[in-house]
Amino acid sequence: MEHVYRKESKSNWAVEASGLVKTFGENRAVDGVHLNVPTGSIYGVLGPNGAGKTTTINMLATLLRPDAGSARIFGHDVVKESQVVRQLIGVTGQYASVDESLSASENLMIFSRLLGLGRAEARRKTADLLEEFGLSEAAKRPLKNFSGGMRRRLDLAASLIAQPPLIFLDEPTTGLDPRTRSQMWETIRRLVKTGSTILLTTQYLEEADQLADRVAVIDRGRVVAEGTVDELKASVGTSSLHLRIQNPQDIEKASQTVELVLRAKAVVTAGMITAPMTDADGVTDLLISLREAGIHLAEMSVQKPTLDEVFLTITGQGIKDETASPDGAMKLEEARA
Ligand SMILES: Nc1ncnc2c1ncn2[C@@H]1O[C@H](COP(=O)(O)OP(=O)(O)OP(=O)(O)O)[C@@H](O)[C@H]1O
Ligand SMILES: [Mg+2]
Repeated sequence: MEHVYRKESKSNWAVEASGLVKTFGENRAVDGVHLNVPTGSIYGVLGPNGAGKTTTINMLATLLRPDAGSARIFGHDVVKESQVVRQLIGVTGQYASVDESLSASENLMIFSRLLGLGRAEARRKTADLLEEFGLSEAAKRPLKNFSGGMRRRLDLAASLIAQPPLIFLDEPTTGLDPRTRSQMWETIRRLVKTGSTILLTTQYLEEADQLADRVAVIDRGRVVAEGTVDELKASVGTSSLHLRIQNPQDIEKASQTVELVLRAKAVVTAGMITAPMTDADGVTDLLISLREAGIHLAEMSVQKPTLDEVFLTITGQGIKDETASPDGAMKLEEARA
Protein backbone atom coordinates (compact mmCIF):
# COMPACT_ATOMS: atom_id res chain seq x y z
CA MET A 1 0.00 0.00 0.00
CA GLU A 2 2.87 2.35 0.87
CA HIS A 3 4.20 1.79 -2.60
CA VAL A 4 0.89 2.57 -4.27
CA TYR A 5 0.52 5.77 -2.21
CA ARG A 6 3.85 7.20 -3.20
CA LYS A 7 3.50 6.39 -6.85
CA GLU A 8 -0.12 7.58 -7.15
CA SER A 9 0.48 10.81 -5.34
CA LYS A 10 2.62 11.95 -8.25
CA SER A 11 -0.39 11.95 -10.57
CA ASN A 12 -1.44 15.49 -11.54
CA TRP A 13 -5.10 14.95 -10.85
CA ALA A 14 -6.45 13.52 -7.64
CA VAL A 15 -9.94 13.55 -9.15
CA GLU A 16 -11.05 13.68 -12.77
CA ALA A 17 -14.79 13.36 -13.08
CA SER A 18 -16.59 13.69 -16.34
CA GLY A 19 -20.33 13.84 -16.93
CA LEU A 20 -21.28 12.11 -13.69
CA VAL A 21 -24.99 11.37 -13.41
CA LYS A 22 -27.02 9.86 -10.58
CA THR A 23 -30.78 9.59 -10.74
CA PHE A 24 -33.09 8.70 -7.86
CA GLY A 25 -36.44 7.92 -9.46
CA GLU A 26 -37.42 11.06 -11.35
CA ASN A 27 -34.82 13.16 -9.58
CA ARG A 28 -31.52 13.76 -11.38
CA ALA A 29 -29.62 14.41 -8.15
CA VAL A 30 -26.33 14.68 -10.05
CA ASP A 31 -26.81 15.82 -13.61
CA GLY A 32 -23.53 15.71 -15.52
CA VAL A 33 -20.86 16.86 -13.08
CA HIS A 34 -17.34 17.60 -14.31
CA LEU A 35 -14.61 18.07 -11.72
CA ASN A 36 -10.83 18.21 -11.85
CA VAL A 37 -9.05 18.33 -8.53
CA PRO A 38 -5.29 19.02 -8.69
CA THR A 39 -3.15 16.78 -6.50
CA GLY A 40 -1.96 18.50 -3.33
CA SER A 41 -4.73 21.08 -3.20
CA ILE A 42 -7.85 21.78 -1.18
CA TYR A 43 -10.83 21.74 -3.47
CA GLY A 44 -14.20 23.02 -2.31
CA VAL A 45 -17.55 21.89 -3.63
CA LEU A 46 -19.96 24.62 -2.70
CA GLY A 47 -23.70 24.29 -2.87
CA PRO A 48 -27.01 24.56 -1.04
CA ASN A 49 -29.01 21.71 0.53
CA GLY A 50 -29.89 19.07 -2.01
CA ALA A 51 -27.50 20.37 -4.67
CA GLY A 52 -25.96 16.92 -5.08
CA LYS A 53 -22.73 17.32 -3.10
CA THR A 54 -22.98 14.16 -1.01
CA THR A 55 -24.20 12.11 -3.96
CA THR A 56 -21.21 13.28 -6.02
CA ILE A 57 -18.77 12.41 -3.23
CA ASN A 58 -20.39 9.01 -2.78
CA MET A 59 -19.79 8.21 -6.44
CA LEU A 60 -16.17 9.40 -6.26
CA ALA A 61 -15.66 7.34 -3.12
CA THR A 62 -17.05 4.17 -4.78
CA LEU A 63 -20.03 4.10 -2.40
CA LEU A 64 -22.54 4.73 -5.20
CA ARG A 65 -22.34 3.60 -8.79
CA PRO A 66 -22.77 6.39 -11.37
CA ASP A 67 -25.64 6.00 -13.85
CA ALA A 68 -23.54 7.73 -16.49
CA GLY A 69 -20.19 9.44 -16.88
CA SER A 70 -16.90 8.39 -15.36
CA ALA A 71 -14.47 9.32 -12.64
CA ARG A 72 -10.85 8.59 -11.94
CA ILE A 73 -8.99 8.89 -8.65
CA PHE A 74 -5.24 9.34 -9.26
CA GLY A 75 -5.92 7.83 -12.66
CA HIS A 76 -7.93 4.84 -11.42
CA ASP A 77 -11.50 4.31 -12.55
CA VAL A 78 -13.96 4.37 -9.64
CA VAL A 79 -16.06 1.56 -11.12
CA LYS A 80 -13.53 -0.70 -12.82
CA GLU A 81 -10.78 -0.27 -10.21
CA SER A 82 -12.83 0.38 -7.10
CA GLN A 83 -10.53 -1.75 -4.92
CA VAL A 84 -7.48 0.34 -5.80
CA VAL A 85 -9.46 3.54 -5.39
CA ARG A 86 -10.56 2.54 -1.89
CA GLN A 87 -6.95 2.22 -0.81
CA LEU A 88 -6.26 5.77 -1.92
CA ILE A 89 -9.12 7.57 -0.21
CA GLY A 90 -10.54 8.40 3.17
CA VAL A 91 -14.12 9.49 3.65
CA THR A 92 -15.40 11.53 6.53
CA GLY A 93 -19.15 11.49 6.36
CA GLN A 94 -21.65 14.19 7.08
CA TYR A 95 -22.40 12.13 10.17
CA ALA A 96 -19.80 10.40 12.31
CA SER A 97 -19.52 6.77 11.38
CA VAL A 98 -18.18 5.42 14.63
CA ASP A 99 -19.55 3.04 17.26
CA GLU A 100 -21.85 4.77 19.75
CA SER A 101 -21.38 2.52 22.74
CA LEU A 102 -17.57 2.58 22.67
CA SER A 103 -15.38 5.37 23.96
CA ALA A 104 -13.40 7.76 21.76
CA SER A 105 -10.13 5.98 22.43
CA GLU A 106 -11.66 2.55 21.83
CA ASN A 107 -12.99 3.73 18.48
CA LEU A 108 -9.61 5.06 17.39
CA MET A 109 -7.88 1.88 18.60
CA ILE A 110 -10.26 -0.20 16.49
CA PHE A 111 -9.68 1.91 13.40
CA SER A 112 -5.92 1.72 13.90
CA ARG A 113 -5.95 -2.04 14.36
CA LEU A 114 -8.21 -2.49 11.32
CA LEU A 115 -5.67 -0.53 9.31
CA GLY A 116 -3.00 -2.99 10.37
CA LEU A 117 -1.10 -1.00 13.02
CA GLY A 118 0.50 -3.01 15.84
CA ARG A 119 -0.95 -2.67 19.33
CA ALA A 120 1.76 -0.31 20.62
CA GLU A 121 1.67 1.89 17.56
CA ALA A 122 -2.12 1.97 17.58
CA ARG A 123 -2.06 3.09 21.21
CA ARG A 124 0.47 5.83 20.48
CA LYS A 125 -1.43 7.05 17.42
CA THR A 126 -4.69 7.08 19.36
CA ALA A 127 -3.17 9.14 22.18
CA ASP A 128 -1.60 11.60 19.72
CA LEU A 129 -4.85 12.13 17.85
CA LEU A 130 -6.94 12.53 20.99
CA GLU A 131 -4.46 15.12 22.21
CA GLU A 132 -4.41 16.97 18.92
CA PHE A 133 -8.18 17.14 18.68
CA GLY A 134 -8.61 18.22 22.27
CA LEU A 135 -10.39 14.99 23.16
CA SER A 136 -7.96 13.59 25.74
CA GLU A 137 -10.20 14.39 28.69
CA ALA A 138 -13.24 12.87 27.04
CA ALA A 139 -11.32 9.85 25.77
CA LYS A 140 -12.94 7.33 28.10
CA ARG A 141 -16.51 8.54 27.69
CA PRO A 142 -18.85 6.62 25.40
CA LEU A 143 -19.65 8.44 22.19
CA LYS A 144 -23.33 8.71 22.94
CA ASN A 145 -22.40 11.37 25.49
CA PHE A 146 -20.40 13.41 22.97
CA SER A 147 -21.53 16.74 21.58
CA GLY A 148 -21.87 17.17 17.80
CA GLY A 149 -18.56 19.03 17.65
CA MET A 150 -16.70 16.35 19.57
CA ARG A 151 -18.09 13.68 17.30
CA ARG A 152 -17.04 15.58 14.22
CA ARG A 153 -13.52 15.94 15.56
CA LEU A 154 -13.35 12.25 16.40
CA ASP A 155 -14.61 11.38 12.95
CA LEU A 156 -11.87 13.45 11.33
CA ALA A 157 -9.31 12.00 13.74
CA ALA A 158 -10.34 8.51 12.63
CA SER A 159 -9.76 9.39 8.99
CA LEU A 160 -6.28 10.66 9.86
CA ILE A 161 -5.00 7.35 11.15
CA ALA A 162 -4.24 6.15 7.67
CA GLN A 163 -3.78 9.60 6.19
CA PRO A 164 -4.72 8.55 2.68
CA PRO A 165 -3.59 10.60 -0.34
CA LEU A 166 -7.13 11.83 -0.99
CA ILE A 167 -9.57 12.73 1.77
CA PHE A 168 -13.24 13.53 1.21
CA LEU A 169 -14.76 15.74 3.87
CA ASP A 170 -18.50 16.14 3.59
CA GLU A 171 -19.46 19.39 5.35
CA PRO A 172 -16.75 18.97 7.97
CA THR A 173 -17.77 22.01 10.01
CA THR A 174 -21.55 22.24 9.64
CA GLY A 175 -23.03 22.90 13.07
CA LEU A 176 -19.71 23.50 14.82
CA ASP A 177 -19.08 26.52 17.02
CA PRO A 178 -16.61 29.11 15.64
CA ARG A 179 -13.69 27.95 17.78
CA THR A 180 -14.08 24.28 16.89
CA ARG A 181 -14.55 25.28 13.27
CA SER A 182 -11.23 27.10 13.11
CA GLN A 183 -9.54 24.13 14.79
CA MET A 184 -10.91 21.95 12.01
CA TRP A 185 -9.60 24.37 9.42
CA GLU A 186 -6.14 24.19 10.98
CA THR A 187 -6.21 20.41 10.88
CA ILE A 188 -7.33 20.38 7.27
CA ARG A 189 -4.51 22.74 6.28
CA ARG A 190 -2.02 20.54 8.09
CA LEU A 191 -3.25 17.48 6.21
CA VAL A 192 -2.51 19.17 2.92
CA LYS A 193 0.92 20.31 4.08
CA THR A 194 1.76 16.71 4.89
CA GLY A 195 0.84 15.55 1.42
CA SER A 196 -2.88 14.81 1.22
CA THR A 197 -5.35 16.22 -1.27
CA ILE A 198 -8.67 17.34 0.20
CA LEU A 199 -12.05 17.50 -1.47
CA LEU A 200 -14.53 19.12 0.88
CA THR A 201 -18.12 20.14 0.54
CA THR A 202 -19.53 23.15 2.28
CA GLN A 203 -22.51 25.44 2.34
CA TYR A 204 -20.38 28.31 3.60
CA LEU A 205 -18.69 30.73 1.27
CA GLU A 206 -16.43 31.76 4.14
CA GLU A 207 -15.19 28.22 4.60
CA ALA A 208 -14.28 27.94 0.95
CA ASP A 209 -12.60 31.31 1.28
CA GLN A 210 -10.54 30.16 4.26
CA LEU A 211 -9.50 26.81 2.87
CA ALA A 212 -10.00 26.08 -0.78
CA ASP A 213 -7.55 26.72 -3.60
CA ARG A 214 -10.29 26.15 -6.13
CA VAL A 215 -14.03 25.73 -5.91
CA ALA A 216 -16.86 24.33 -7.93
CA VAL A 217 -20.26 25.82 -7.24
CA ILE A 218 -22.97 23.23 -7.75
CA ASP A 219 -26.67 23.81 -8.03
CA ARG A 220 -29.35 21.24 -8.83
CA GLY A 221 -26.82 18.59 -9.76
CA ARG A 222 -24.71 20.75 -12.07
CA VAL A 223 -21.49 22.69 -11.78
CA VAL A 224 -22.56 26.27 -12.43
CA ALA A 225 -19.18 27.89 -11.84
CA GLU A 226 -15.59 26.80 -11.32
CA GLY A 227 -12.44 28.68 -10.48
CA THR A 228 -10.22 30.00 -7.73
CA VAL A 229 -11.80 31.52 -4.65
CA ASP A 230 -10.46 34.92 -5.67
CA GLU A 231 -12.30 34.62 -8.97
CA LEU A 232 -15.45 33.64 -7.15
CA LYS A 233 -15.14 36.57 -4.80
CA ALA A 234 -14.40 38.97 -7.60
CA SER A 235 -17.54 37.82 -9.36
CA VAL A 236 -19.74 38.64 -6.38
CA GLY A 237 -17.89 41.67 -5.06
CA THR A 238 -16.38 42.07 -1.62
CA SER A 239 -19.65 43.13 -0.10
CA SER A 240 -23.24 43.11 -1.11
CA LEU A 241 -25.97 45.68 -0.91
CA HIS A 242 -29.50 44.90 0.23
CA LEU A 243 -32.14 47.49 -0.35
CA ARG A 244 -35.86 47.66 0.28
CA ILE A 245 -37.81 50.70 -0.76
CA GLN A 246 -41.00 52.19 0.65
CA ASN A 247 -42.99 52.51 -2.54
CA PRO A 248 -43.08 49.30 -4.65
CA GLN A 249 -43.81 51.36 -7.77
CA ASP A 250 -40.32 52.82 -7.57
CA ILE A 251 -38.58 49.47 -7.65
CA GLU A 252 -37.62 49.56 -11.33
CA LYS A 253 -36.22 53.07 -11.03
CA ALA A 254 -34.40 52.18 -7.80
CA SER A 255 -32.86 49.12 -9.40
CA GLN A 256 -31.66 51.19 -12.37
CA THR A 257 -30.15 53.76 -10.02
CA VAL A 258 -28.30 51.02 -8.16
CA GLU A 259 -26.90 49.63 -11.42
CA LEU A 260 -25.87 53.06 -12.62
CA VAL A 261 -24.14 54.17 -9.44
CA LEU A 262 -22.55 50.86 -8.42
CA ARG A 263 -21.85 49.76 -11.99
CA ALA A 264 -23.05 46.25 -11.13
CA LYS A 265 -25.98 44.04 -11.94
CA ALA A 266 -28.87 44.45 -9.52
CA VAL A 267 -31.25 41.57 -8.86
CA VAL A 268 -34.77 42.02 -7.55
CA THR A 269 -36.30 39.18 -5.52
CA ALA A 270 -39.37 39.48 -3.30
CA GLY A 271 -39.19 43.28 -3.21
CA MET A 272 -35.52 43.27 -2.23
CA ILE A 273 -32.85 44.75 -4.47
CA THR A 274 -29.50 43.02 -4.17
CA ALA A 275 -26.26 44.04 -5.86
CA PRO A 276 -22.57 43.22 -5.49
CA MET A 277 -20.27 46.03 -4.38
CA THR A 278 -16.54 46.20 -4.94
CA ASP A 279 -16.24 49.01 -2.44
CA ALA A 280 -18.59 49.59 0.51
CA ASP A 281 -17.88 53.31 0.17
CA GLY A 282 -19.96 53.40 -3.01
CA VAL A 283 -23.06 53.32 -0.83
CA THR A 284 -22.65 57.05 -0.03
CA ASP A 285 -23.06 58.02 -3.69
CA LEU A 286 -25.96 55.64 -4.02
CA LEU A 287 -27.89 57.14 -1.10
CA ILE A 288 -27.47 60.63 -2.54
CA SER A 289 -28.67 59.49 -5.97
CA LEU A 290 -31.69 57.73 -4.49
CA ARG A 291 -32.65 60.84 -2.55
CA GLU A 292 -32.26 62.99 -5.66
CA ALA A 293 -34.54 60.58 -7.51
CA GLY A 294 -37.13 60.91 -4.75
CA ILE A 295 -36.91 57.22 -3.78
CA HIS A 296 -37.51 56.50 -0.10
CA LEU A 297 -35.83 53.58 1.61
CA ALA A 298 -37.48 51.10 3.93
CA GLU A 299 -34.36 49.09 4.70
CA MET A 300 -30.72 49.16 3.67
CA SER A 301 -27.70 47.08 4.58
CA VAL A 302 -24.24 46.27 3.29
CA GLN A 303 -23.13 42.73 4.07
CA LYS A 304 -20.54 40.18 3.15
CA PRO A 305 -21.78 38.13 0.20
CA THR A 306 -23.58 34.96 1.18
CA LEU A 307 -23.75 31.74 -0.78
CA ASP A 308 -27.19 32.84 -1.92
CA GLU A 309 -25.69 35.95 -3.49
CA VAL A 310 -23.04 33.92 -5.23
CA PHE A 311 -25.89 32.04 -6.81
CA LEU A 312 -27.77 35.20 -7.65
CA THR A 313 -24.72 36.61 -9.36
CA ILE A 314 -23.70 33.46 -11.16
CA THR A 315 -27.05 32.09 -12.19
CA GLY A 316 -29.14 35.25 -12.03
CA GLN A 317 -31.49 33.52 -9.61
CA GLY A 318 -31.63 32.55 -5.98
CA ILE A 319 -31.04 29.12 -4.53
CA LYS A 320 -34.67 28.30 -4.01
CA ASP A 321 -35.84 29.45 -7.41
CA GLU A 322 -36.85 26.30 -9.25
CA THR A 323 -37.29 27.85 -12.72
CA ALA A 324 -34.85 27.65 -15.63
CA SER A 325 -31.37 26.37 -14.91
CA PRO A 326 -28.25 27.80 -16.53
CA ASP A 327 -26.83 26.12 -19.55
CA GLY A 328 -23.74 24.37 -18.27
CA ALA A 329 -20.83 25.68 -16.25
CA MET A 330 -19.63 29.21 -16.53
CA LYS A 331 -16.06 30.23 -15.86
CA LEU A 332 -15.91 32.67 -12.98
CA GLU A 333 -13.98 35.11 -15.11
CA GLU A 334 -17.01 35.28 -17.39
CA ALA A 335 -19.32 35.69 -14.42
CA ARG A 336 -17.42 38.81 -13.46
CA ALA A 337 -17.85 40.44 -16.86
N1 LIG B 1 -30.51 7.58 -1.45
C1 LIG B 1 -31.30 8.51 -2.00
N2 LIG B 1 -32.53 8.18 -2.46
C2 LIG B 1 -33.33 9.11 -3.03
N3 LIG B 1 -33.00 10.40 -3.19
C3 LIG B 1 -31.81 10.78 -2.74
C4 LIG B 1 -30.89 9.86 -2.13
N4 LIG B 1 -29.77 10.56 -1.79
C5 LIG B 1 -29.98 11.82 -2.17
N5 LIG B 1 -31.18 11.98 -2.76
C6 LIG B 1 -31.70 13.23 -3.35
O1 LIG B 1 -30.74 13.72 -4.24
C7 LIG B 1 -30.61 15.13 -4.16
C8 LIG B 1 -29.20 15.49 -3.82
O2 LIG B 1 -28.92 15.07 -2.50
P1 LIG B 1 -27.49 15.22 -1.83
O3 LIG B 1 -27.56 14.54 -0.51
O4 LIG B 1 -26.45 14.76 -2.78
O5 LIG B 1 -27.40 16.80 -1.66
P2 LIG B 1 -26.33 17.65 -0.83
O6 LIG B 1 -25.83 18.68 -1.75
O7 LIG B 1 -25.35 16.76 -0.19
O8 LIG B 1 -27.28 18.35 0.26
P3 LIG B 1 -26.98 18.71 1.81
O9 LIG B 1 -26.30 20.04 1.81
O10 LIG B 1 -28.36 18.83 2.39
O11 LIG B 1 -26.18 17.63 2.42
C9 LIG B 1 -31.64 15.56 -3.13
O12 LIG B 1 -32.79 15.96 -3.83
C10 LIG B 1 -31.91 14.31 -2.32
O13 LIG B 1 -33.19 14.33 -1.81
MG1 LIG C 1 -24.87 16.38 1.77
